[in-house]
Amino acid sequence: MATHDTHPSESVAVAAERRWGMVVGAVILFLLCMMGYMSLHWASMPPVRTETIDPSTLHIAGEFVETNLGSAVENDGSVTLRVLANQYSFTPQCILLPADTPIRVRATAADVVHGFSIDRTNVNMMLVPGYISNFRTRFSEPGEHVMPCHEFCGTGHAAMWAHVQIIDKADFLRRAATSRRLSCVE
Ligand code: CUA
Repeated sequence: MATHDTHPSESVAVAAERRWGMVVGAVILFLLCMMGYMSLHWASMPPVRTETIDPSTLHIAGEFVETNLGSAVENDGSVTLRVLANQYSFTPQCILLPADTPIRVRATAADVVHGFSIDRTNVNMMLVPGYISNFRTRFSEPGEHVMPCHEFCGTGHAAMWAHVQIIDKADFLRRAATSRRLSCVE
């Protein structure tokens, strides 16, 4: 470009290209910042962390025995929900959680890979036998949700889902006072 005369329209084109280059660069930078922020903010890793558990002894001892499943209030006021998935149901079948409270979901699968997602929320992860999946979330208001398995897990996959009831925080804490693990299973 320096070796020949620059036509006026060429310098206009160069300026326009530079402007567009900056716009594209800004978009890329914005997306990278967003990725960085989201991963640090949520301390998120791929949903399946390298926290392992032996699927063959899940039901006998440890965190995922049946009596330990459901929602529990922690000392810091947050709530931990523990769920076990197997062909073809989630335990508990009806999940009870408070609105406006930090929630930590811990879940695993006993047999094959299952999906865990709560409709109209950002809760979405895979449950892999041998690993504990973690997700942190918060529900802004009370409501009813469905929780379908979204990973094909066999012939009963389409029928594998649970209910999620989000209730008022005060109501939840009242119920938690008399019960170590909460669910809405009748
Ligand atoms: Cu479990 Cu699909």
